[in-house]
Amino acid sequence: MKRLFSQGLFAALALCAFSTSYAASSPEVEALVKEGHRLFTTEKFNGNGRVCETCHVAGGKTAGHLPNGKPMPSLMNAAAVFPRVRHGQVTSLEDQVRKCVGGAIEGTPPEYGSKELGALSVYITSLSEGKAIELGGTPQ
Ligand code: HEC
Repeated sequence: MKRLFSQGLFAALALCAFSTSYAASSPEVEALVKEGHRLFTTEKFNGNGRVCETCHVAGGKTAGHLPNGKPMPSLMNAAAVFPRVRHGQVTSLEDQVRKCVGGAIEGTPPEYGSKELGALSVYITSLSEGKAIELGGTPQ
């Protein structure tokens, strides 16, 4: 009985660990999260060959690093700390994604309102599901 209980507990924990971190309340959202993840891990935007995941390791879920090895935070709370305000300048999550494509990837940033930018935005926001909004906070 005790053993059964612990096995059940283990199975439940394993399920939690492998289930997605967002509510996925609609199939439409789920599809966009998947598409955003696909772009995040494979899309080169006609740039220097890098993809988002080159620096934002493991889909942005763990600490990342620059090509020179310099560490940087994960994207797990990125959506909760954006829009970002620095020196009087407001940067939205989508602005930041376009900056990374234009700068880090030296590619063509997806247009505002495009499916690509929307999907990336939905994917990154899914990582922050359940996190409290923390305007002015630091990425973790
Ligand atoms: C060459 C490395 C590199 C690549 C490739 C890259 N980024 Fe970034 N990204 C950075 C750096 C460095 C920062 C921190 C910028 C800052 O603090 O101003 C950052 C910041 C971010 C942030 C805000 C969170 C934070 O820690 O400041 C998001 C969101 C983000 N990147 C998304 C993307 C997406 C989406 C892609 C792919 C389209 C991408 N990045 C590709 C290096 C990269």
